[in-house]
Amino acid sequence: MDKFRIHGGVPLSGTVVIRGAKNAALPAMAAALLTGERVVLHNVPRVRDIATLRSLLDELGVDSSIAHEEYGNRVEIEARQLISPVAPYELVKQMRASVLVLGPLLARFGHARVSLPGGCAIGARPINLHLKGLERLGATITMDHGYIDARAERLRGAAFHFDTISVTGTENLMMAASLAEGTTVLENAALEPEVQDLACLLNAMGARIQGAGTSRITIEGVGRLHGTEHTIIPDRIEAGTFMVAAVITRGCLRLERVRTQHLTAVIAKLEESGAKVSPGPPSGAGQAFDTLTAELPGGLTAADVTTREYPGFPTDMQAQYMALMTQASGSSVITETIFENRFLHALELVRMGADITVDGRRAVVRGPTPLSGANVQASDLRASASLVLAGLAAEGETVIDRVYHIDRGYERIEQRLAQVGARIQRISED
Ligand code: EPZ
Repeated sequence: MDKFRIHGGVPLSGTVVIRGAKNAALPAMAAALLTGERVVLHNVPRVRDIATLRSLLDELGVDSSIAHEEYGNRVEIEARQLISPVAPYELVKQMRASVLVLGPLLARFGHARVSLPGGCAIGARPINLHLKGLERLGATITMDHGYIDARAERLRGAAFHFDTISVTGTENLMMAASLAEGTTVLENAALEPEVQDLACLLNAMGARIQGAGTSRITIEGVGRLHGTEHTIIPDRIEAGTFMVAAVITRGCLRLERVRTQHLTAVIAKLEESGAKVSPGPPSGAGQAFDTLTAELPGGLTAADVTTREYPGFPTDMQAQYMALMTQASGSSVITETIFENRFLHALELVRMGADITVDGRRAVVRGPTPLSGANVQASDLRASASLVLAGLAAEGETVIDRVYHIDRGYERIEQRLAQVGARIQRISED
């Protein structure tokens, strides 16, 4: 298992090009199952989760390819037919977002057999709402041997209200409803930019979706969808992570190919704690994206945060923000409202010298406390990012084990950090 070795204390400076959003690329790749024609996706990040989903498409008998482009990577998918409707346990256990093939397989082929994704480090992660919604659309769903078996002659449009806001739940049902007979209305739907990007892709494929980005999404089913080309939105969580890297090291980073409008809650919170975030000229192919600069001109002060569904402060930025608050003057209360066990990084930060008290879904961080390098262990994707950020700020050497977690969602993060001055290297071990 690979490790990272970091020597902290270097203020980062330079330019980072932000990659496409993993959590937009995954549903987009699943959406390609809804047509037999070629779907071309640009700005796809080259991360483990994308490779895992490509392996799953391969298992299903669907051709896909990935190639470098000047900005990001191009993935081409052509789901002419299936050799199997089964998403096997070995792949689903690696990436629970595999459940995103459920809706498209059911809608296009009438049958899907997907391993139940277990829980993960941050919580039980049930998918009851995905299944309840598909049943509302007329699917027959049974469970056996740890697999979900879903069947439907033809899905029928229906109204469905989400008891809890679910990002992939909204995405799964939006994809399934695209080929259903009649109209579907999703209430209490997720507003995330990744949901909006998926609706944009589906409509480019011939779907008739309105209201994405609001809590009420209307999908008028159509007989078939066609191929298209689509550019994945920038990764707002990767952008937020690099912004924190600039602030926690008291450096200055210019981020290119971002979408600033997706970062308002993160920018507001960082500025509340003393950071300076400045917009720059448009960047990327056709100047389609934004640029911003993050730095810390003066002191860092503690600011409370509560994670919320979009457009609130994202849960996927909570661990990174906690690392930052260990360096802020004063006490900050961090409340995690989305997942029940998303403070695993706190224990490792304490081992590096942080003063953090966890009580259920609340953590109190008292700072600033000097961090000293230590051997730490990553537990999940964003906790790993938190430990990298702490290592960049710590005195001495930090060795982070199990960095495969971070490789799931960040493309070559150690190389991109080193390019802006970080003393970080990957130690590859068998
Ligand atoms: C998506 O996960 C993201 N993953 C997560 O990012 C992100 O943390 C999460 O949304 C919240 O923003 C992808 O998009 C691939 P949810 P998802 O369904 O869809 C409960 C990362 O770091 N719930 O919105 O699985 C659930 O337990 C990952 O990139 C049910 O009860 O999250 C949670 O408490 C981590 N029943 C809440 O809803 C369901 O059927 C939100 O979960 C579904 C969800």
